[in-house]
Amino acid sequence: MAAKPRVFVTRRIPELGLQKIGAACAMEVWPDQLPPSADILREKIKTCDGLVSLLTDRIDGPLLDVAPKLKVVSNFAVGFNNIDIPAATDRGIAVGNTPGVLTDATADMAMVLLMTAARRIVEGVEDAKAGRWKTWEPCGWLGQDLANRTVGIIGMGRIGSAFARRCRFGWNMKVLYADVYQNATAEKELGATKVEIDTLLKESDFVSVHTDLNAQTKGMFNAELFKKMKKTAVFINTARGPLVDQGALADALRKGTIFAAGLDVTDPEPLPTDHELYKLSNCVIAPHVASATVQTRDEMARICAENVIAGVTGGKLTAPVNPEVEGKRRK
Ligand code: DGY
Repeated sequence: MAAKPRVFVTRRIPELGLQKIGAACAMEVWPDQLPPSADILREKIKTCDGLVSLLTDRIDGPLLDVAPKLKVVSNFAVGFNNIDIPAATDRGIAVGNTPGVLTDATADMAMVLLMTAARRIVEGVEDAKAGRWKTWEPCGWLGQDLANRTVGIIGMGRIGSAFARRCRFGWNMKVLYADVYQNATAEKELGATKVEIDTLLKESDFVSVHTDLNAQTKGMFNAELFKKMKKTAVFINTARGPLVDQGALADALRKGTIFAAGLDVTDPEPLPTDHELYKLSNCVIAPHVASATVQTRDEMARICAENVIAGVTGGKLTAPVNPEVEGKRRK
């Protein structure tokens, strides 16, 4: 009987995924809470046919070069900025991700952050716990209304559209968006309007980022952009930390250039506990948990397992990132 394909999984993912992979492959799972070091990862993948990676694992050409048998990298995430895709394609390695299944959970998290930051909830809760809640305050902890305002979406893809839908039908917001692509469905169903980014920043009460991290978008939210927003604006980022110049954001929050921010992603992650953003009462920071629901993580594990199994057996990936690799995939 032929030996089972070898797969290394860089962290414990939900059981549902591990069971599927374990049934089809000779699987090794990195047991620690923290990721394997680059040296350990290099050692582990040398003889592997498949790799299950997380967004905290850097997968680049030099690493892939130590694994001559590697056929697939299955990322346990929809984002794949941790993987050098052209390097994988050049080497005939298929890459998979987990799109679709985390759309609602991530859009919900953007909404949670928007409500929390706009209504100064963390600040109020901390004040209550610390005894600073002295009486009912007519002018205390005043936030921003959500209903009937304007939301600006940067990147009207799956998650941007799901967030826009919540804003439109939950709070009757007007929806503006900036994207390189036109989203005809969002325009038809949500009445969304595609505008230049400057118009979006000027007219939006809330600005939410849902774009990919790449060479063009890295650091795009800089001092200049924050200055173009309303003083009452709330800025939300559930996409990737490096999209934002955090020094500029801290400045904008401190000086009142904008009202508040809600971040599920930072640069680096975790953000060091002495970081200036933590000191600002108008900045809400969550530990990258947008997809962290039981159901969503199970679904991510399922797709991730399907991708790695298809990759090592020469099948079609459920969610391929580099379909251009077809025809030159490693056997
Ligand atoms: C992703 O999938 O890219 C998220 O950031 C984590 O779920």
